[in-house]
Parts: sequence; structure tokens; C-alpha cells
Amino acid sequence: MTILILGSGGREHTFAWKIVQSPLCKQLYVAPGNSGTAEIAENINLNVLDFQGIKAFVLSKQIDMVVVGPEDPLVQGIHDFFLNDIALKHVAVIGPQKAAAALEGSKEFAKEFLYRHNIPTAAYQSFDATNVEKGYAFLETLNPPYVLKADGLAAGKGVLILNDLEEAKSELKSMLVDAKFGNASAKVVIEEFLDGIELSCFVLTDGKHYKILPTAKDYKRIGEGDTGLNTGGMGAISPVPFATEEFFRKVEDQVVKPTISGLQKDNLPYKGFVFIGLIKVGDEPKVIEYNVRMGDPETEVVLPRLKNDLVKIFQAIHERRLDEIEIQIDERAAATIMMVSGGYPEAYEKGKEITGLKTVTESIPFHAGATLRDGKIVTSGGRVMAMTSFGETFQDAIKKSYQNIEKLHFDKMYYRKDIGFDL
Ligand code: AMP
Ligand code: GLY
Repeated sequence: MTILILGSGGREHTFAWKIVQSPLCKQLYVAPGNSGTAEIAENINLNVLDFQGIKAFVLSKQIDMVVVGPEDPLVQGIHDFFLNDIALKHVAVIGPQKAAAALEGSKEFAKEFLYRHNIPTAAYQSFDATNVEKGYAFLETLNPPYVLKADGLAAGKGVLILNDLEEAKSELKSMLVDAKFGNASAKVVIEEFLDGIELSCFVLTDGKHYKILPTAKDYKRIGEGDTGLNTGGMGAISPVPFATEEFFRKVEDQVVKPTISGLQKDNLPYKGFVFIGLIKVGDEPKVIEYNVRMGDPETEVVLPRLKNDLVKIFQAIHERRLDEIEIQIDERAAATIMMVSGGYPEAYEKGKEITGLKTVTESIPFHAGATLRDGKIVTSGGRVMAMTSFGETFQDAIKKSYQNIEKLHFDKMYYRKDIGFDL
């Protein structure tokens, strides 16, 4: 098969690394890709939202399968674009159609879905510029901290958690009236605060059947001890030690099953990954959010633990016979540590040469914001590289990743030295 991956992060390098291991993959392209994917596949200079450009490329190379990494093209309907085009409709697209991608594209849509299907989640109400006053009144009925969520995609920045009522009211106004997050905050979901520990559950579905992948936990804050600004994720481990078998049975019965049957009942066509952000409150799972793609850096620990041929799984998803696949998981733990540009998630410099990659042993450096320039690998983003390792325990895996990170260098490199500290 000839396969195209859309995206350019550590997630997409991990997909590429896994897909080239499949005997079914004859040729792999990544658009736009990074320095890591350039080593194992062919990078194509195409924007993931340039549907016409993607169409021309898919036809010229007779691509059989498109694996969509990030959410944007899904929320904008890339899968529907393929299905609605007579020349493209035979191509297997891994990722949900637009109607289902709204589970990530609209927080309000996701909350309505969760309520409609009796899936445990925080109580909420949503507001727009016409009823800001009602929003203030709702805030007054809640206890702090106050959780405000921009309805639309806001590059991971659209959630505010505030301790002060007056500040919450003024932020609500700035989101709804002053368009703090542009059109993404034209609606705002205000939610009950849930106190617990977070984890992520990843599910593959063909719209009818589902398979559960290993759990993972990521570390979103920039600073040690989970302090400072939110990032895309600074590290991850899999499996999650506190997700006991008993807890996970609840997740499957109360969350996964009603999610998949809810997609069917609501006629939301879905062939791809469902990323369920969970919080464990006491012993009960509650859904914080849905994403309609894999997580990054969670992919860098989940896919290496999957023993199956990923292309075979994707074929089964396309043909809606995922029930025929038996998922096999490596019993070892995996950990990944993200190396980032100094200053991230705020302003940072790019173009710094990354050295030492050839000296890495026993770990896999997945490239994220890294690119080839004049034969050198240089930084091109905030999150630069994810160092993944296996171990008997997640502590062993983390140790190996740190040993290898010490062999790498780029100017103003930063990473958290406490991944796993809370477990
Ligand atoms: P989201 O984009 O909805 O995943 O929210 C981003 C982050 O905000 C989550 O990963 C949580 O850490 C936090 N968060 C979101 N909703 C809640 C909630 N209802 N209670 C507590 N924390 C929350
Ligand atoms: N690591 C969180 C995400 O991919 O959204």
C-alpha cells in the first residue's frame, strides 16, 4: 500500500515509525513531516489544510490510505472531502467525519453528547454574548475554582481555571464580548470543577466495533511539580499505574461503550482514534474532554507498546471489521520525555542545531519540532524531541530516557526532570 500521513509532530513521527514496520506498507509519505520522518519516509511540502493540494498529491501517487494526525483537518471535514469526491472516495481515511469531529471542535457539542448518553462528566451550562448576565448568575451558584472553556478549537489555550469569582466574571466577559479567543470563544462552557487525577484512554473504532489501547498520562504544565503554563505535553507514561483493572472496567462500561453506541445512535460516522480525557474522582471516572485523534506525546508511549501491525488495524477499520483484530500489547512500561525550546510555551527561538542524536542507545528519539536545514537537524518548534524508552517499570523507562537526553544538546534546551513524580 501507498500511505500518506498528515502532520509534522512527534505523534506523526511515531505513526511513521510504526507504519514502516508493516510489510503491507510499500511507500510512505508524510505531509509536511519533520527531520525524523525524513529519515524513514518521504516528506511532502503540503499544508494539512490544503485539501485541493492533498487531492492532487493523492491522485498523482495513487495513495491508498491517509492517516490524519492533527484535529484541524478532521474538524474542517477532510474525511467528508474524500468521500464526496468520486476520484478519492475509495481511499481509506483514518479519522472521523466532520459531524463526529465536532466532539473535539465544540465543547458544547461534546457536553450535549455526554449528557444525552448518560456518560459521567462535570455539570455545565453554556453561554454566548446574548446571555452574559446569566453566565454571571451561574458562576455565583458554583464553588471555586471556576472552569471556563472556549467552545471552539483554541490551540489548547481555551480553558481557564480561576479561583476568584470576580476574575471569572471578567474573563467570561472577555471571552464572549471581547472575543479573547476569537470566534472560538463566541460560546463558553462553564463547568463544575472536578478534583482528581487525570489520565487518558485511547480507543480505536470503525464506528461499530471498538478496541481499547493502553492508557497513558501526560504532564501538561511547563514547570516541575505541575506548575506554570499549560503546554501541549511535556512527557507521558504508559500504562497508568492507578488505572486498576476494577477502575478500568468502570471506564469501559460507563464511558467507552456508551460513547461508541452514542456515535451510532446519533449517526456520527467514525473511523479512527477516540482520545478520552478522564479524571478519576474518588474511584469514579468522569470525562473531561474528547479528542478525535491521538494525543501528543501520548502517541509516543502508546504506539510503541502496540505489537500489532498498525496498517492491518487501519485496513480493518476502513472495512468495518475491527472485531476481527486481537490487540496485543507489550507488557513493559514506556515513558517519553519532551525536550523543548527555552521560553516555550511563550516566545522561543528556532533554528538551533541539535547534536548527539547518533549517540542515543536503548531509547527512541521521536522528532517533533525539528527539521533538516543544510544537512543539519535544527529546532523548528517549541516541542522539539520526545525521548521514548521501555522499562520493566515506568521508573526504569524514565531513567533511560534521561540518560539519553543528557547526550543531546541544543541551545536553551529545557525538559522537566520530574516526569512521573506524582505516581
Ligand atoms: P480540556 O481542554 O477540556 O481538556 O481542559 C484542559 C485541562 O483543564 C484539563 O486537562 C484539566 O486539567 C483541566 N480541566 C478541564 N475541565 C476541568 C474540570 N471540570 N475540572 C477540573 N479540571 C478541569
Ligand atoms: N497531550 C494532549 C493532547 O494531545 O491533546
